[in-house]
Amino acid sequence: MGMKVKIGSLILQNPIITASGTFGYNTEYKDFMDLTKIGALITKGITLHPRQGNPQPRIKEVPNGMINSIGLENVGIHKFVEEKLPVLKENNITFIVNIAGESLEEYKQIAKICENNQLNAIELNLSCPNVEKGCLEFGKDEETICRLICSVREVFTGTLIVKLGTNVSFPEKIAWAVQKAGGDAISAINTVKAMNININSDYKGYKFIKGGLSGKCIKPIALNFIYEIRQHTDLPIIGMGGINNLNDILEFIAVGADAIQIGTGTFTQPDISEKLADELNDFMETRGYNSIKELADSLR
Ligand SMILES: Cc1cc2nc3c(=O)[nH]c(=O)nc-3n(C[C@H](O)[C@H](O)[C@H](O)COP(=O)(O)O)c2cc1C
Repeated sequence: MGMKVKIGSLILQNPIITASGTFGYNTEYKDFMDLTKIGALITKGITLHPRQGNPQPRIKEVPNGMINSIGLENVGIHKFVEEKLPVLKENNITFIVNIAGESLEEYKQIAKICENNQLNAIELNLSCPNVEKGCLEFGKDEETICRLICSVREVFTGTLIVKLGTNVSFPEKIAWAVQKAGGDAISAINTVKAMNININSDYKGYKFIKGGLSGKCIKPIALNFIYEIRQHTDLPIIGMGGINNLNDILEFIAVGADAIQIGTGTFTQPDISEKLADELNDFMETRGYNSIKELADSLR
């Protein structure tokens, strides 16, 4: 078994996954590192139609993190299938497509295109805080989540991961709804709504940025969220939020994660996921753990 983890019908060779929006379409890195060593790669958020994203400023570094307001800039599902998918398939990369819609129907249409192109796994983004329509509004209450998952399930037979954010009143009800509606796994957390203001800026438009906060500063929020939903679902949980080293990974496993994603950490260390996969492997071998489950049992 070793480091393998099962998420729906997807078997990952290890629990390290790159987070959506922080690793491009996954193809950009193929000449710089060995992508086959990472458990899975997640594409940036893909929508039905191409999106230009939000106007500048889109990124601001803050203490121990960053705020982004990219606004889901992407080429759209059709161009993704035409141009990016062949490269991913050709390079034998295990990948998951992160999708976002402005309506239930849009999520369903994208999922159908994924099914028609034999894609194995989708991550449904129900939690992006920096777009005007869609995403967040579908991830807030259990009834809407159930309807969305059920309609995607009508057209998609692969692994369905549902990505949640912390903007929900009752995380435990949402976790239960995902399981009841036929989701295979929960991933969390997305970025946290935040704002930065520069009172000394002369340039009006650049005075402040509103968007999603990520990086080390959100780790305590993420750990608490994972811990809470773990009490209410048996589904695999993929945890993320500020993971930068092996110790962070162990903390997420300790509170209930089965796998983890690395996002903002990639911006300062592009090959961090590959390195952490090696480090986790060495750690498990040295300590004599034969599976992630054995490791998890020892930490919980
Ligand atoms: C620049 C940027 C773009 C992102 N784009 C997406 C996206 O398209 N879809 C999505 O589900 N999450 C997106 N996220 C959220 C990350 O996948 C992740 O949930 C979040 O950043 C927390 O993890 P981290 O602290 O390790 O970055 C984005 C994050 C950043 C920083």
